[in-house]
Amino acid sequence: MKRALRYCFVSLVILVLGVGTGFAEEGEVCVRCHKAVTPLMVKDWQSSKHSENDVICSVCHGSKHKSKKTAHLAEMPTEATCAECHEEQFDQFAKGKHNFGWTAMNALPVTHLEPDELMEGGKGCGGCHNMGIKSEAQKKELREKDYTYRTNSCDECHTRHTFSKKEAQDPKACQQCHMGFDHPQWEMYESSKHGERYAMKEIGRLPKDAAAPTCQFCHLPKGTHANRVAWGFLAVRLPLPEDKQWAEDQTTILKALGVLDPEGKPTARLDIVKAADMARLTEEDWKNEREKMIKRCKKCHSENYAREELERGDRMIQRADRLMAQAINIVADLYKDGILKKPDNYSYAYPDFLHFYRTGGSHIEQVLLKMYLKHRMRTYQAGFHVNPDYAYWYGWAAMTKDLGQITEMAEDLRFKAQFQEKK
Ligand code: HEC
Ligand code: HEC
Ligand code: HEC
Ligand code: HEC
Ligand code: HEC
Ligand code: HEC
Ligand code: HEC
Ligand code: HEC
Repeated sequence: MKRALRYCFVSLVILVLGVGTGFAEEGEVCVRCHKAVTPLMVKDWQSSKHSENDVICSVCHGSKHKSKKTAHLAEMPTEATCAECHEEQFDQFAKGKHNFGWTAMNALPVTHLEPDELMEGGKGCGGCHNMGIKSEAQKKELREKDYTYRTNSCDECHTRHTFSKKEAQDPKACQQCHMGFDHPQWEMYESSKHGERYAMKEIGRLPKDAAAPTCQFCHLPKGTHANRVAWGFLAVRLPLPEDKQWAEDQTTILKALGVLDPEGKPTARLDIVKAADMARLTEEDWKNEREKMIKRCKKCHSENYAREELERGDRMIQRADRLMAQAINIVADLYKDGILKKPDNYSYAYPDFLHFYRTGGSHIEQVLLKMYLKHRMRTYQAGFHVNPDYAYWYGWAAMTKDLGQITEMAEDLRFKAQFQEKK
């Protein structure tokens, strides 16, 4: 009701302004010329709810540009522009994990060593991490580097200029970003029973109201724009698990993430992890998210079924962490024994996952990184997304193979070092 009133108000303002200042006519001007300049974009807009509701070009782009020569004066709308009429969605988005996408990317050392085109330019990391309301400093940096089209995250799921709700409700809206190397949720979902059912329903093989969860059903329940899960991407949490071995293994992983130093003391990166909400930091926060998820499963499964499934997912993290920690310790010992030298840009003589594939990095460390970023992720993510093939062949089996390779390479490196010493 509040929203409906708001739209009436907005429409009224537009109408009054329109009559008062020639606003409506101004809208016509943009559309008329752009029908020739960008005809299919205008068609998109014409098919949108915005066009039906007089949300004309200049509402989002301002009216400083009205001719061919002044195109550079057109403004690009930020999330705040959308918030003027969609406060509810904006507020939810601001509280969710997506709002940390840009900040999380920029927090990594690697981001500042790679080509700008891939980051601010959006051809790589920045293409997916353009998620989050940017601070003034972040916007300034973009302007100074002349990147003008990375100002809005609201058009990532309902793309411009249709801004369609239906589009955003389809799992494909998540595909561009949630796919590939270290987070193939799309591939896992698409080939899981959940995804298959959804596809069958779409082509009419199953009844229209057949039970088939989408990404949105589980992660953005009831249309909310705030997303957050219990484990998160890193799949670490505080307090550490009760099981002693598992707690030790998670500590080893935190060292390789540079969140703890090799002695186990917190580093400055812990503050970044906290600030970017990368892990749940209390038992309560973690449980809260877990219970929310079980509520979703319960719409179709029994509670016991869902709980056991998710607990088995947790245990897969535990098992994957055992392999992972063994591998990290093997490489860490090579540093300790002086067989691998500390790279200049590392803080410690210890593996550092956040430097990714450092140029000139040793092969053994690259296998270790792949084991973490690609194979550990698949092992546990597939556990949660009900995909047996990803969990076993692309996950667990690949981790086992990595550990074997790392063990063998470490032996070779030690042998070589001994040989060189003798010479
Ligand atoms: C007389 C024709 C004309 C009119 C009127 C016009 N535009 Fe444009 N507009 C253009 C041209 C030409 C470009 C540049 C297109 C290109 O780069 O290929 C452009 C570009 C733009 C851009 C993109 C700018 C960029 O940096 O890429 C936006 C946004 C835009 N117009 C919005 C509007 C709005 C809003 C209005 C009305 C207030 C409007 N236009 C009126 C011709 C026009
Ligand atoms: C001046 C007000 C206004 C602004 C600014 C505005 N919108 Fe809207 N938007 C509306 C109205 C009005 C509707 C139609 C509401 C309805 O039908 O319930 C709408 C509908 C939508 C819908 C739902 C479309 C559908 O298929 O049902 C989406 C998504 C949306 N807007 C996104 C955005 C985004 C993203 C921005 C910023 C880039 C934005 N809006 C800016 C007024 C606005
Ligand atoms: C294909 C899209 C895509 C690309 C390219 C990409 N990311 Fe991501 N990134 C994501 C998604 C999606 C997530 C969340 C995955 C999850 O939770 O499983 C993520 C997660 C992260 C996180 C963890 C955030 C957290 O809170 O745990 C960091 C940090 C990160 N990415 C940095 C980068 C950097 C740096 C690059 C480039 C070297 C990069 N990403 C490239 C999509 C991408
Ligand atoms: C509801 C808000 C909204 C309305 C209304 C709107 N736009 Fe946009 N437009 C956007 C957003 C968001 C972007 C992307 C900005 C970014 O990411 O920096 C954009 C980008 C653009 C671009 C540059 C990017 C590209 O793909 O070429 C042009 C040109 C443009 N709009 C023209 C128009 C025209 C013409 C109209 C009217 C027919 C219009 N816009 C109406 C929100 C809007
Ligand atoms: C991660 C994808 C995603 C992003 C990013 C996103 N949305 Fe949405 N949006 C959705 C989904 C999914 C729906 C459909 C919700 C539903 O089923 O009711 C939706 C629906 C909407 C609607 C229509 C609401 C209704 O009930 O009619 C509006 C308005 C909207 N979004 C605005 C925004 C704004 C503003 C932003 C940026 C602050 C934004 N969205 C960012 C996924 C997204
Ligand atoms: C049946 C419900 C369900 C569906 C459908 C689903 N997910 Fe998930 N998702 C989960 C569960 C459960 C977790 C793990 C939650 C936890 O940490 O306890 C999860 C975790 C995630 C994570 C965090 C990292 C990870 O993989 O554990 C991302 C990102 C994610 N899902 C994205 C997606 C995307 C994108 C889709 C659609 C292509 C999707 N999910 C479909 C239930 C679902
Ligand atoms: C433009 C790229 C992009 C799109 C589209 C996108 N996401 Fe994301 N998503 C990200 C990034 C980047 C992150 C990691 C942000 C962070 O944590 O810093 C992420 C994180 C997540 C998470 C993890 C939350 C957590 O607690 O760790 C979930 C769940 C998720 N997205 C679900 C979705 C769903 C569902 C859709 C489709 C409706 C979607 N995303 C569309 C880029 C995207
Ligand atoms: C919208 C309904 C719906 C929701 C929500 C849902 N599921 Fe399912 N799920 C199904 C259907 C239907 C099947 C296929 C039935 C079958 O396998 O016999 C299924 C199958 C499964 C399977 C078995 C796959 C196989 O190999 O047989 C598991 C495990 C599962 N779901 C776990 C979960 C978990 C965990 C959640 C919550 C995170 C969840 N589901 C949420 C509908 C749903």
